[in-house]
Formats: sequence, structure tokens, C-alpha cells
Amino acid sequence: MPMPTESFPLRLEGKRILITAGASGMGRAGAELFARHGAVICIADYNANSAACVVEAVRAAGGQASALVADLTDMEQARHIVHEASERMGGLDGLWAHAGAPGPQGLENLDWNDYRRSMALNVDATVASVSEAIPLLRQGRKPSILMTASISGLVGSQLSPIYSLEKFAIVGFAKSLALALGSDGIRVNALCPGLVDTPMLPTFMSRSGDAEASRLAQEKFVASVPLGRVAQPEEQAHAALWLMSDEAAYITGIALPVDGGFTAR
Ligand SMILES: NC(=O)c1ccc[n+]([C@@H]2O[C@H](COP(=O)([O-])OP(=O)(O)OC[C@H]3O[C@@H](n4cnc5c(N)ncnc54)[C@H](O)[C@@H]3O)[C@@H](O)[C@H]2O)c1
Repeated sequence: MPMPTESFPLRLEGKRILITAGASGMGRAGAELFARHGAVICIADYNANSAACVVEAVRAAGGQASALVADLTDMEQARHIVHEASERMGGLDGLWAHAGAPGPQGLENLDWNDYRRSMALNVDATVASVSEAIPLLRQGRKPSILMTASISGLVGSQLSPIYSLEKFAIVGFAKSLALALGSDGIRVNALCPGLVDTPMLPTFMSRSGDAEASRLAQEKFVASVPLGRVAQPEEQAHAALWLMSDEAAYITGIALPVDGGFTAR
């Protein structure tokens, strides 16, 4: 990737941004892209090796990044990383609360431990990190919060009612906070990706344990996407970049589908 030049505007110059689950997929793509646009990045993830690789890649490209290793299903850790990140970066201007996982597939024979773990990561960790970040963001420069929801937070998911429940919660949370925090100058938005080519995709599609059924389900999904393919993580990162940049200064309370047109019908 080329380094920024004068003809390449630094759209996040000097912004101090924490990205949860930033060691892989869209979070990693975001960390690398944001840093190329002049942001100082801190990622929080429980995969120490992958997190270290992201930091190395950002630094090798001339950017600034550090990593915190944390299991975000643990609320103490989910809260702590926000303060630690802010201390490391000298403040906080942005939080991309991106952490999430597929969770249990069906509803019958629900494993309550799976359910609680998925609620902890998909909902509680977002609430914990966002609530800790708000007072810090009030001191920040043109601050904003981005939460990763999903198209399953905009329309129901036959395959994953629990995941959909959680992602609708994220969209409602983002919209509510946009109303509450607008007068403080804090923008709050949700990103709603369709299927994205990251390590989460095969996990999401294969939860039934039936490889052929999973393949067919993905094929059926892709056939219903107007653009006829899954997204690349970088395509989501570019949407996140815009939402977190000052170019989106008048955008708050939106749940932006980045889904190849899937939710257009
Ligand atoms: N991939 C998709 O198709 C898709 C679609 C819509 C929404 N999403 C959402 O995007 C987000 C992440 O997706 P991705 O595709 O970038 O995933 P990914 O699988 O590429 O990366 C997930 C990251 O989360 C980290 N992680 C998992 N559990 C953790 C925990 N308990 N504590 C700390 N870190 C943890 C992993 O180590 C990994 O680095 C989730 O919120 C997901 O719901 C994904």
C-alpha cells in the first residue's frame, strides 16, 4: 500500500482511535487503513500473536499503533482497555466497538452457556467499552463512536435469531446514544456489514455442522446480493473510515448497510 502523499488527504490525522477486535478481518483492515490516514491506533483483542502482527504491519508502513490483549467477554477487561488505550495515546477521539462473534445458530436446544458468551461479547462488551469511553471522548477532538452491527441488525435472520437479537440491540443502542450525545458533539453510528470475507464467515456459515448445507446457504445468500458477491474487509474499513472522519461531521444516528444491496429490497 502506498504511503500518504500530499495528494492523499489524511482523513483521520492525529485522531486517537481504539478498535476492539482489531487483530483480524475488518478490525485489522480498519487499523491499517486508519493509520495510513494519520490516526494513532490502539487495538484490543484476545489473540496476542495476531494483534502483534497488526501492530508490526502498521509500524512498518510508518504508522502508529499499539495493542492490548484482553478477553472482552470479561467486563472488567472490556472496561479497562478503554482507559489503558486512552492513557497510551494521550486521550481518545474515537472508539470503533467492533468485537462480536456468530453465537449459537438455532433456538431449539439452545446451549445457555453459548448464549451467555455471545451476549457478553456482542452486547455487554459494547455497552461496557462505550460507556467507559463517553467521558473520555467528551475531552476528545471531534469525537465519534462506531459500533459494528450487521445486516442482521436491520432485517431478521432465519439462520441466526440470537445474533439478530444482539445486532438489533447494537443498532438501537447506537441510535439512542446519537440522540443523547449530540449536544456533547459526540457522533454515534452503526456499521451494518453483509457477509464479509473474514475468518468469521466460515464459522458463521458452518455452525450447523453440515458442510453441504452451509455451502448451499452461502450460495443462496450470495445469489440474493445485488452485487453478487461477499464483501472484502477493506470495503468495510473504508466505510468505517468515512464514518469516523470529520468528513462525516453531520452524520450521526445512522445504521449504514455495507451489504452489496442485500437490504435494498
Ligand atoms: N464477517 C462477516 O461476515 C460479518 C458480517 C456482519 C457483521 N460482522 C461483525 O464484525 C465483527 C467481527 O467480524 P470480523 O469478520 O472482522 O471477524 P474476524 O473473525 O476476522 O475477527 C474477529 C476478531 O475478534 C477477536 N475476538 C474474538 N473473541 C474475542 C474476545 N472474547 N475478546 C477479544 N477479542 C476477541 C478475534 O481474536 C479476532 O481477532 C463482529 O462484530 C461481527 O458480528 C461480521
